[in-house]
Amino acid sequence: AIKGFVFDLDGVITDTSVFHSQAWHQVADKVGVKWDDTLADALKGISRMDSLNLILAKDHKENDFTEEEKVALATEKNDNYLKLVNQMTPANILPGIQAFLEDLKAQGYLLSLASASKNSPLVLKKLGLSDYFTKSVDPASLKHGKPDPEIFRRGAEILNLDPAACIGVEDAAAGVQSINGAGETSIGIGDPQVLAAADINFTDTAQLTLANIKAALD
Ligand code: G6P
Ligand code: MG
Repeated sequence: AIKGFVFDLDGVITDTSVFHSQAWHQVADKVGVKWDDTLADALKGISRMDSLNLILAKDHKENDFTEEEKVALATEKNDNYLKLVNQMTPANILPGIQAFLEDLKAQGYLLSLASASKNSPLVLKKLGLSDYFTKSVDPASLKHGKPDPEIFRRGAEILNLDPAACIGVEDAAAGVQSINGAGETSIGIGDPQVLAAADINFTDTAQLTLANIKAALD
């Protein structure tokens, strides 16, 4: 039986995936890499430095910058991003999410966060949602980022649960792959073609209810 839920943050709980994209788009323009939706999707769930390397590699520019210059570009992206995060309020919680978290808590499910973002504690605080999550995986402690299963495996472990007793919720293809690799049930939120590997697909967060999940698992 399912006892816990392991949540991604950006693009699942809140609309920050749009902010990450906006902030990277500015950096891509600066280094002369053409931005498109496929690149934006590929960056979802990917750590800050890995994202920068993916952007540069798109136009074979990964060797055009020193490590120092790359760190400066990643810092510039994060500064862009933090300007957007600092304007966030609970209005930035995606539709249905607060009710879903409330329901999960009332039904006694344990909740953990498996976000690759070092900014996730700040984002949860801005949204007023910190108290829903018993534990969070510290992304700085990970050896491998998504799509590696490590982060979702740890998301179950910190709740003292077997992965098979957990459902992972993601908006990124890399994240769904991580959930599946960890041996959890995967829910993909967004384009079902991009997230075809998920056990359950919902096109948006408003569909995320226990009733819909139970119906999908039957
Ligand atoms: C999440 C987002 C990614 C982001 C990553 C690192 O996984 O989906 O777009 O690059 O976190 O975020 P950070 O806030 O640490 O730069
Ligand atoms: Mg995400």
